[in-house]
Amino acid sequence: MVDSSARAARLARAAELTTEEKASLTSGASFWESQAVDRVGIPSIYLTDGPHGVRKQREGGDHLGIGDSVPATCFPPAVALGSSWDPELLERVGVALGQEAKAEGVGVLLGPGINIKRSPLCGRNFEYLSEDPIISGRLGAALVRGLQSQGVGASLKHFAANNQETDRLRVSADVDERPLREIYLRGFQHVVEHAQPWTVMCSYNRINGVYASENPWLLTSVLRDEWGFEGLVVSDWGAVNDRVQALVAGLDLEMPSSGGVTDAQLVAAVADGSLDEAVLDRAADRVIDLVQKAVDGADASASYDADAHHALAREVAGRSVVLLKNDGVLPLRAEAGRRIAVIGEFARTPRYQGAGSSQIVPTRLDNALDELRALAGDAELSFAAGYVIDGDGDAEALTSEAVSVAEAADDVVVFLGLPAADESEGFDREHIELPAAQVDLLEAVLAANPRVTVVLSNGGVVRVSGWADRAAALVEGWLLGQAGGGAIADVLFGVVNPSGRLAETIPLRIEDTASYLNFPGEKGHVRYGEGLFVGYRDFDARGAAVSFPFGHGLSYTTFEYGEVEAVAGDDGGIRVTVEVRNTGDRDGREVVQVYVSVPASAVQRPVRELKGFANVAVAAGASQTVTVELAAEDLAYYDIDRQAWTLEGGEYVVTVGSSSRDLRGSATVTLPGDGVAAPLTVESTLGEWLNHPVGGPLLGGALAQAAGAEGIGAMLSDPGLRRMAESIPLIRAARFPGSPVTDEQLDQLVAAANAR
Ligand code: BGC
Repeated sequence: MVDSSARAARLARAAELTTEEKASLTSGASFWESQAVDRVGIPSIYLTDGPHGVRKQREGGDHLGIGDSVPATCFPPAVALGSSWDPELLERVGVALGQEAKAEGVGVLLGPGINIKRSPLCGRNFEYLSEDPIISGRLGAALVRGLQSQGVGASLKHFAANNQETDRLRVSADVDERPLREIYLRGFQHVVEHAQPWTVMCSYNRINGVYASENPWLLTSVLRDEWGFEGLVVSDWGAVNDRVQALVAGLDLEMPSSGGVTDAQLVAAVADGSLDEAVLDRAADRVIDLVQKAVDGADASASYDADAHHALAREVAGRSVVLLKNDGVLPLRAEAGRRIAVIGEFARTPRYQGAGSSQIVPTRLDNALDELRALAGDAELSFAAGYVIDGDGDAEALTSEAVSVAEAADDVVVFLGLPAADESEGFDREHIELPAAQVDLLEAVLAANPRVTVVLSNGGVVRVSGWADRAAALVEGWLLGQAGGGAIADVLFGVVNPSGRLAETIPLRIEDTASYLNFPGEKGHVRYGEGLFVGYRDFDARGAAVSFPFGHGLSYTTFEYGEVEAVAGDDGGIRVTVEVRNTGDRDGREVVQVYVSVPASAVQRPVRELKGFANVAVAAGASQTVTVELAAEDLAYYDIDRQAWTLEGGEYVVTVGSSSRDLRGSATVTLPGDGVAAPLTVESTLGEWLNHPVGGPLLGGALAQAAGAEGIGAMLSDPGLRRMAESIPLIRAARFPGSPVTDEQLDQLVAAANAR
């Protein structure tokens, strides 16, 4: 047992270190370790992937350690966790990850990844939670809390606007400030403000032309000055472009080791006066703080219960499965005489995580076929592979075997999905299609027996239009981690009543998605031309058809909603209350989703946006009163004129739904808002003046005194001309011949309008 307090006490502050020692401290010693300074007793700490398991490289493994790491529980990847819509569950996963990391001597686990799923094509969507920042922020914060409760640090990644893999080390994400703040940074802001991750990992890409690793606006003004981040910024592995600039911008730790090359650049810059040594001290101090936290959290005797974690992985996977459609064929019946056909290689050979740096070597691996057999009781279960995952194989023979198995069955379950090679870190997908051979197989099976349940295994959404309407049931099984096979069996046999909800829309076609024409960009730039309208925000604004909407997911029971009540909350937000009744005969979970619209907003807003949710267990026949607090910070929009968040006063329409398109009731509440309006200037239009609570009456008064005068006063009093006049800036109007407003009056007006 390490005496952590004694070790911590030995840790020196930057002031006691030489410039060379400080420079070395702010970069890695190896691929995964920070640099030690033995002279003053600073040990090195171990950082490793992440996010859904501990990927600790084996001694002597290749430098990336992918596929050759110490076995660890492979929990469901983020794509599945996001569908649980349950922060409490993610916190438990975080605790378990923390225990495993601690048992392996890992001080920082590199996750969670909470980038927004801007396009279904992003190759790394399986590592991200949602297309919505409220979900990403809530769930990300819960995972960080759980992990850090065990004395292991999180690394919130990839900060920021890393929404594609194409050209990820160079591409500039060109994003306007409102979508950047309201969509792409909002989740990060929530996690930082509510869970204080020990580290934030800056991404590889550039944002509006500037590398994240050397972006002072991002790493210092926003992250630290605005959000109050107290931890350390670490580079993504190899993300540093210019070490000196990065340090100045707020990048504290470069990973992995540069072999001392960039450390020497820091030392030289201090020596020639181009780098203030205080900047290096600051970064070195943050590294020392991180080392100290890791040392305090370490426990050489720590271990974990692999069986219990496997059971947790199964529970979480079961809670992440989304039942998209059910014509009544599910749950399957484990009864004597019942013949169930299981078709598809994925039932036997599970795809349970994505490829790249997050790839865990699992402690064990369930497959759905064995687990279905285990739960089938007296039912008779037959299997046909139907296809070979990599597309090889005799399609005709495989199909005819599958068809004969289907013909002889009462129920058919077909497992389809994406081969591992189709989606990975490092490149994007080019389409969202399932392999053609699998779709052909499904068609043949559907023709033989219509009682087909399709179970999908995929990290990014796949197109289901074209056949989903003919399947009797459809289960979105995502990538469910090492216990996913058991979880699928639990859901299919009704041991678990499904409660997962889509955290991303399933479009009819990839061409329908908002970013389609702006993904993945070209010549080093990707333009986020769709602005705020990402995912359901876009589909709902255009009233466009989708295969399955955001928030959708069925249960084996049904829920009814009572009247929605919404009142202004104490903190400037809104308190929403609604009664939810389980009207079926099974216990179940409902995810109550609260969407908000601001019809009279001064700025463009999506038709409705998720602002809060609650995940509640309701027993069969029981009712529960659900309260969801919508925080003022989540209701605010980012005012680009004032460069500040603004909570508008006025009417907020609160709509409660079971998906973004299954809306069950709404209520309207009037909020006072924060009373902050953009200052009026002589450049503000007459319309802006007249709509302003102080400026309006002032200008109105000035014009009334000059009623009947020629020019602008006359235009404003003519209903036919008024709208045209409203777009004229005050200064231009004041210069019209016959204007009733003098320059002096203008100055007085502006001063009076902005006086508070
Ligand atoms: C990935 C990170 C990962 C790191 C270390 C990078 O390529 O983007 O997510 O944590 O490698 O493996």
